Amino acid sequence: MSQCAAIIAAAGSGERFGATLPKALITLGNRTLIEHAVAALAPVASEIVICAPAGYEKQIQELVGNDITVVVGGATRSESVRAGIAALSGNAKFVLVHDAARALATTELAHSVLTSLEKGEVAVIPGLELIDTVKSIDASGHVTSTPDRASFRRVQTPQGFDLEVLKKAHATGADATDDGALVEAIGHKVLIIKGEERALKITTPTDLASALSMLGTSSLFRTGVGVDAHAFAEGRQLWLAGLLWPNQIGVDGHSDGDVAAHAICDALFAAAQLGDLGTNFGIDKPEYAGASGVTLLKETLQRVSAAGYAISNVTVQIIGNRPKLAERRSEAIAALSAALGGVNVSVLATTTDGMGLTGEGRGIAAIASALLIKQG
Ligand code: CTP
Ligand code: MG
Repeated sequence: MSQCAAIIAAAGSGERFGATLPKALITLGNRTLIEHAVAALAPVASEIVICAPAGYEKQIQELVGNDITVVVGGATRSESVRAGIAALSGNAKFVLVHDAARALATTELAHSVLTSLEKGEVAVIPGLELIDTVKSIDASGHVTSTPDRASFRRVQTPQGFDLEVLKKAHATGADATDDGALVEAIGHKVLIIKGEERALKITTPTDLASALSMLGTSSLFRTGVGVDAHAFAEGRQLWLAGLLWPNQIGVDGHSDGDVAAHAICDALFAAAQLGDLGTNFGIDKPEYAGASGVTLLKETLQRVSAAGYAISNVTVQIIGNRPKLAERRSEAIAALSAALGGVNVSVLATTTDGMGLTGEGRGIAAIASALLIKQG
């Protein structure tokens, strides 16, 4: 296959989206729009240049890694693409120009564009048929004609070009909303191939919601619930939510009996479908005998990460008459969060109005929930 470079236009401010950060840095599912765009093009591109909004070059470079060149874009999309062209090594025969905003365009689409270039086309752009009837209007809003919609296409990116042709088209310094128009303007033939619904340009929050549904979020997010309970036992220290509670009666168990930590471990294992506390750290695994709740949380984090998940957040509710959690809540949150690599943790507590075993003061229980996000 011939060498193919890629330029990703990501320097827009995302004004119509209305967020406080540039559109390319908005998160869609498990990663930002720019990361999605890079992932789609990387398998077909020998080099990638990203045109970033001024001031965000470093942040984008950190997200995409050092194999990719990041340059500052221009005031218009065409100027950004020109900045991208200037940063190319010049070794490639072809170039794909892509919008970060079309984050869900697939590698297959990029591949189809490239295949047409290899067959001898000099400009290839994906497009879809129109669904609505179109009208041409005058300045007063009156219809001047109803063109045959079958002869129109709404075009997308990645658009592919012979690199020399794209350079010539941009040498004019002209502005257009796509690169195909600049190539047409210097007299080259531009071929349209079948585009993709999922290559939609994410412009507004509604578009982001459509893109999220195309991404199939059901396989992306996973929740889990975990429960643990231990009876009070005289002569033991109390460990709860990663903290030692001096002057409190501890609980039974061959570990430190930290019900909050154990419930969180189970919620995480449940969400990742990795079994439970028993199958991971049970009595047939003597190396974990007596392990602290914090140690088990750290180990659980490692296993969940190795299975390809990141933790979005964790909640644990402690159920019992004592200890009173309120005055140490922030300490508990800090301890649990640190054990889980700094994730968002909420800690709540309740009594049960004197009902049930914990209400009778016979022990402590905890219920936890966790939300995981599939990575990659
Ligand atoms: N783009 C660019 N440089 C510009 C303007 C736009 O690289 N000066 C990029 C955008 O980052 C986007 C693509 O061109 O990936 C298409 O532009 P658009 O969807 O209009 O994005 P924004 O310009 O960011 O959005 P808005 O017009 O709502 O501000
Ligand atoms: Mg724009």
